[in-house]
Amino acid sequence: MFKSIVNFKVYREGIHGNGEKLVRDLSSIRRENYDLIMAVSSPQLHLSSKYKGIIAQHVDPYESGAHTGAIIIEELLNMGVNGSLLNHSERKVPGNHITQCIEEAEEKGFTLYICSESLEETRFLCESGAKYIAYEPPELIGGNISVSAAKPEIVRESAELCKSYNSVLLVGAGVKKGEDVIACKNLGAQGILVSSGVVKSERPVDALNSLMI
Ligand code: G3P
Repeated sequence: MFKSIVNFKVYREGIHGNGEKLVRDLSSIRRENYDLIMAVSSPQLHLSSKYKGIIAQHVDPYESGAHTGAIIIEELLNMGVNGSLLNHSERKVPGNHITQCIEEAEEKGFTLYICSESLEETRFLCESGAKYIAYEPPELIGGNISVSAAKPEIVRESAELCKSYNSVLLVGAGVKKGEDVIACKNLGAQGILVSSGVVKSERPVDALNSLMI
């Protein structure tokens, strides 16, 4: 299954009532061989009781206890959210945060999609046992140049590296068109992360449809 992760961030178009509308509208798109996942902001996570494929944008590696402001796996699972992004370049965390989350997630049956900014970071994630790794060059995020066009060699090498560790490579940043997705696939990626191209589009359903080809 090719994964299409739509990251709502906290774009105005993805929060408050707009968030639920966007989740509802995008949920109408179901394609064979595509796994649609929506990473919503924390106050929108309750939508998981009504819609499939909702994940968090960040998670902390703690058990219940004295951790003010933490988002913990146990609580996410309890509300029906079984996955999260982690280490997005807009929400970087230290290496030990990542390794502890991986351990905790494995123990509890929770899925992490861990972002990486470079081949070196991808290697660290592979060695740490990450299952899903999302390569996103920070400088391309929010722009119109796709990761597949700007960094084809890194995507290809990352895909090979991930394969050798039995990890799955997703890629994101600047993905706006169906042809970008095809290029990502051809370079070995098994999924994409997209944000502005869908969330900030005037026609998000059409925009996502055009990426699920
Ligand atoms: O997590 C996905 C995101 O960072 C990519 O953003 O706007 O370039 O699709 P965008």
